[in-house]
Amino acid sequence: MKFFVDTADTAEIRDLAATGLVDGVTTNPSLIHKAGRNFLEVVEEICGIVDGPVSAEVVALDHEGMMREAEIVRRIADNVAVKVPLTVDGLKTCKALTSDGTMVNVTLCFTANQALLAAKAGATFISPFVGRHDDIGFDGMQIISEIRTIYDNYDFETQILVASVRHPVHVLQSAMIGADVMTAPPAVIRQLFKHPLTDRGIESFLADWGKTGQSIG
Ligand code: G3P
Repeated sequence: MKFFVDTADTAEIRDLAATGLVDGVTTNPSLIHKAGRNFLEVVEEICGIVDGPVSAEVVALDHEGMMREAEIVRRIADNVAVKVPLTVDGLKTCKALTSDGTMVNVTLCFTANQALLAAKAGATFISPFVGRHDDIGFDGMQIISEIRTIYDNYDFETQILVASVRHPVHVLQSAMIGADVMTAPPAVIRQLFKHPLTDRGIESFLADWGKTGQSIG
């Protein structure tokens, strides 16, 4: 399963990219606002930090406007994935862009039927938002299971990119289901490394090593 970082904070991206575990980045208008920087500039910088896909979202709601904005966004770098919302105009734009080789990430997906439409539109990635489902008392991961079944039934190439990830259990469940990608905030990715028994084990190993009076090199 690929790991994308869900942020426009370039310092965080650089830090996590240094682990070698970052396969791409996703942004959205809220994350751009949070970063407090020029959209095109920060996306260009991110595209230079990671080799993998970097999602950058258009904000027009009509097909013609989306195409105009997508033309600007996709020129930023070869690893840009244009992000469009799951609407009629969004999927019309998705079909047009992917037909000429541009990566498209269809976002704000909340049902398997929506994901089916995105796959038929040739989406490179589909972003079902699991956390926002959980926030209102539903099981967001159920949608991921349904999408996985549907995509496997028809050999769709669209990659399931689990988004709105809130905690490590979402990451675990995504991998158990067989999602292609998960995108998570830096803090959630960092949580994946952590376990108190790992910390305690290191402490006891080092305490016993200290008693040997030896050093390596
Ligand atoms: O990539 C989509 C993601 O940023 C949405 O997450 O936490 O706003 O639901 P959230």
